[in-house]
Amino acid sequence: GDFALTESGVVPTKKPVLVCVLDGWGVNPITDEWNAVHCAETPTYDALTKVEGRFTTVAAHGPAVGLPTWDDMGNSEVGHNALGSGQLIAQGARLVDGALADKSIFTEEGWNYIKPAFASNTVHLIALLSSGGVHSRFDQIEGIMRGAAKDGAKKIRMHVLLDGRDVPDGSSIQYMTDLEKVLSELRAAGCDAQVASGGGRMHMTMDRYEADWAMVKRGWDAHALGEAPHKFKDPVEAVKSLREIKPNDQYLEAFVIVDDSGSPVGAINDGDAVALLNFRADRMVEISKAFEYEDFKEFDRKRWPKTLFVGIMQYDGDLKLPAKYLVPPPSIVKTIGEYMAKNGLKTFACSETQKFGHVTFFWNGNRSGYFDEALETYLEIPSDNVPFNEAPLMKAAEITAAGVEALKSAKYDQVRVNFANPDMVGHTGNMEATTEACTFVDQCLKKLLDTVEELGGVFLVTADHGNADDMVQRNKKDKKPVTIDGVIQALTSHTLAPVPVMIGGPGLPASVKFNTAVEKPGLSNVTGTIMNLMGYNSPSCWEPSLI
Ligand code: 3PG
Ligand code: CO
Repeated sequence: GDFALTESGVVPTKKPVLVCVLDGWGVNPITDEWNAVHCAETPTYDALTKVEGRFTTVAAHGPAVGLPTWDDMGNSEVGHNALGSGQLIAQGARLVDGALADKSIFTEEGWNYIKPAFASNTVHLIALLSSGGVHSRFDQIEGIMRGAAKDGAKKIRMHVLLDGRDVPDGSSIQYMTDLEKVLSELRAAGCDAQVASGGGRMHMTMDRYEADWAMVKRGWDAHALGEAPHKFKDPVEAVKSLREIKPNDQYLEAFVIVDDSGSPVGAINDGDAVALLNFRADRMVEISKAFEYEDFKEFDRKRWPKTLFVGIMQYDGDLKLPAKYLVPPPSIVKTIGEYMAKNGLKTFACSETQKFGHVTFFWNGNRSGYFDEALETYLEIPSDNVPFNEAPLMKAAEITAAGVEALKSAKYDQVRVNFANPDMVGHTGNMEATTEACTFVDQCLKKLLDTVEELGGVFLVTADHGNADDMVQRNKKDKKPVTIDGVIQALTSHTLAPVPVMIGGPGLPASVKFNTAVEKPGLSNVTGTIMNLMGYNSPSCWEPSLI
């Protein structure tokens, strides 16, 4: 019926197809000493880029992946959603923008659910405090704070995660200052609005894929219980002081704001409203479970306040988590995973913890389950919980070994892996370590491609967004590195660079080349390409294939 695939006859079916995502590997037009992809030793990648008709680049940011503007860098959620679905999807950032612009966010079910707390209880808003646009945006956070005050919230408490990962390190001070300005305006208008707790996003609350529940506990203790190792009266002072202990926004230690008597100003109590304002799913799932699930065993919550709890989005479509949300999430259906499962095709998907959900959960349209467990094997290699500049090889060797074994097993129609290194090491801002990461990933890629060669298979290598391809902040005009007091400023975030798409393998007939007539290709054009490489016509609901 709806999901039937037809054989294209161009590429033989029954060849294993390798899909390899080099996370954070962009093709940046600037190839100077701050482009780690360029500086790394990458003979395998270099050779692929030289194959006539089988190397191209596609857009991986902005509207090409459903984000509001061309200034929005891509990210792994929207990138893998596009790769897995073949469709242009209006993403969370855009949906929240729309709901704030027409104010529907303030009249829908989710808002009505928390509103009863406004008059006599506290409204707690938990958010990544930056304008990164990957997990959250300051203007949206501000809009919701103002909306709550306008709708009669007497007491607002902000629980904020400092960023430095999607925005420059050190910017936390400015964002906290900006937040304080809005809060003081609300206070002047009679709403008791204050920062209650906070800390670095990689230190607390925003863990993903259950890599480190202790992170979530640190967040719970500060946000919900009002307990943290550091106590301050002033939030800007808090960030400044904590940066003296550890000059890294991402890893700032947890703090709570206390009143004159030393009591936390914003512990969460029964009857309070709690809203998570990050629209991106991966790093909100665990904290959502802590607030929502009565039966919760990941850590001792000590106290579980019965709150009116919402996410700005629903983060997991399978778990229906959270049950209540402010803006309906994008509906991502008819993904390649679903097509494959409904046609009896077998998948092997693997990455290490930090990217495991990228090639499964995000790939499948933000669903944590399987389409058909009998046909899908998902393998997670546990990531180490270390700053990745200290271990730039990460688990790439283990992922490679698993991929090689899966290809050789002849059990799968598609073997899909993601190498985390260029992205995760890139986020540390460390040029040397990121270069080493790219060099190593290139060696791993060679092993996978050699296996495809041996087996007569087909491959497609791509990336989800840029990151390692630019490791320095640049002046807008001349693109020269930004320096402060003579010190070059690292770029920890993703880039706007397009990403490579490279195809090949002995199973691919010599006539198969990229079709240069596809206009303005983006990541969602890759899905149909993969389907073609597997020997099938691409479903018409997807963006056109690149071949
Ligand atoms: C993160 O969550 O680590 C960053 O904000 C984005 O990185 P990713 O999109 O590559 O996961
Ligand atoms: Co990233």
